Order: sequence, then structure tokens, then C-alpha cells
Amino acid sequence: MSLVNPMEFIKKAQQKGIGIASFNVHNLETVQAVIEGAEAEKCPVIIQTTPGTLNHAGIEYISAIVRAAAEKCSVPVALHVDHCKSFETIIQCIRNGYTSVMIDTAHLPYDENIAMVKKVVEIAHCVGIAVEGELGRIGGTEDDLSVDERTATFTVPAEAKDFVDRTDIDMLAIAIGTAHGEYKGEPRLDFERLSAIREAVDCPLILHGASGIPDYQIKESLRRGISKINIATELKIPMAYAIKKCFEEKPNENDPRNYMGSAKNAVREVVRRKIRLCGGTNFADEL
Ligand code: 13P
Repeated sequence: MSLVNPMEFIKKAQQKGIGIASFNVHNLETVQAVIEGAEAEKCPVIIQTTPGTLNHAGIEYISAIVRAAAEKCSVPVALHVDHCKSFETIIQCIRNGYTSVMIDTAHLPYDENIAMVKKVVEIAHCVGIAVEGELGRIGGTEDDLSVDERTATFTVPAEAKDFVDRTDIDMLAIAIGTAHGEYKGEPRLDFERLSAIREAVDCPLILHGASGIPDYQIKESLRRGISKINIATELKIPMAYAIKKCFEEKPNENDPRNYMGSAKNAVREVVRRKIRLCGGTNFADEL
């Protein structure tokens, strides 16, 4: 089927209390792995690319790969740009068939953040595209976006309500103690803050930096109202490991179909596990 606006399934996921696992992809094999994993679990999926991936792969190439994959796929697929600071890039994504965009101007002063997010929402909603905004600052590093521990700030529930009311965003990314990349110790999420934000706003809430969060904390996040879980690092690590292992076992291997094939299999298994963890198995049957 064609790429769909993720609100078609994320609202229902929210009502049901399950999460939509959303995966960052970088190339053909990661797209295939995510699609195969979602089909095997019969769950709709969000495929995400950062602006760094758009620079690496080319927006026309990566969007064409995802579109082709979605058209052959038996479950709904949405294509989303993750952590985009540039208005121009958002427009290019919309023109290239993205069905959802994240405008991340959380580094700007509050009113400027609101003004930019509103501008994106006005345009995106005219053409049926969903918009994710962020309030608070999620720590860690993702591509060229780096937020150190001193700059990371948690989302304030009352501000979240004001932000959603004034911008009319579809989904809100919140900062409750997660960080992008690998954690040094066990992360401790601020669940009371999550419940207070859930109480204050109606739209689906998003957990970034979900790689490395213990399963019991992911489950608690879902129970308290998170509806989208973003995974990047936990796909990159097994992919790199599978490629290294392949060359350790066969140092003269030179066929990309072999070493990338083993990487794809490793990624697909993580995708399946994350979908199961989020309660998404067979969710496509209910849509
Ligand atoms: P991780 O790299 O921690 O999985 O974070 C992914 C993410 O939040 C993408 O926006």
C-alpha cells in the first residue's frame, strides 16, 4: 500500500495503550529489515531518517526505497523525518513523499520555537502530513545533534499543554530522562513527570532515545501513555556486530550481499523484538 500518515494508526495505538516502534534507517538493507520485521509481526511501522541520513543517502534515493518497500508491504508504513531543524528540509521531505515530519527547534527560545512549529504545522496539515514537535531537550548524540547533560532539560507539563494548544502539533516528543546513543549506566525515567504530561495533553507522546532502556521501563512508559518509541542505536549495534563477525569468520569475504545480508537479518530480529515489546504484534489486523 502507499505510505500513510502515521496518525491513521497511532491514535488507535494510543487508545489501546500500545506503542508504535519507530526505526531510524540508513540504507536499503535497514529499510528491508524494518519492513520484513513489521510484516512478520503484522504491525504498522514508522520508518525515520535524520537530516544526516538525507545527506548521506540523498533524499530522492532513500524516499524512493521506502516508498517501493511500502507499496509491496502488507502493513501500513509511514515515512518520517526525525529531528529536523531546517524549514527548507521539511518542505523537501514533504515534496518527496514523507507523511510525517519532526520540526525540532527546541533549542530556540520558547516563543520562537512555537512560531516555527506553527509555521510547519500550517503547511503540513494543508497536505495531510503529521507533525511532531519537541519540548524540553533530550540529551545525548544523534548524528550532528548533540545535547550535553547540562543543556538537557525535562519537559514541564504545564508548558507542554500550552505548546500543544498553541502549535496544534499531532505528536509531542518529551524529555523525561532518556538520551540518544548508548547509556553509561541504567537510565531512570521520570515516570511521575510522564503521567503529569499525559494528564495535561491529549496528543500521542513520543519517547526518543529508547535504545538501551530496560524492557520494564519501556513497558511502564507505555502504561503511562507513551505511544511512539524511537529506536536507532539498538539497530546500529547489531548491524555493525554482524558485519564484523562475518569478516572475522571469512576475512576474504567481498560480496556485499553476504555481509550486508547477515547485517539485515540481525536488524530484522531486533525490529521484531521491539515490536513485541511495544505490544504491536497483530495490531495491523485491527486497523
Ligand atoms: P537511540 O539512538 O537512543 O535509539 O534514539 C533514537 C531516537 O530517539 C531517534 O530520534
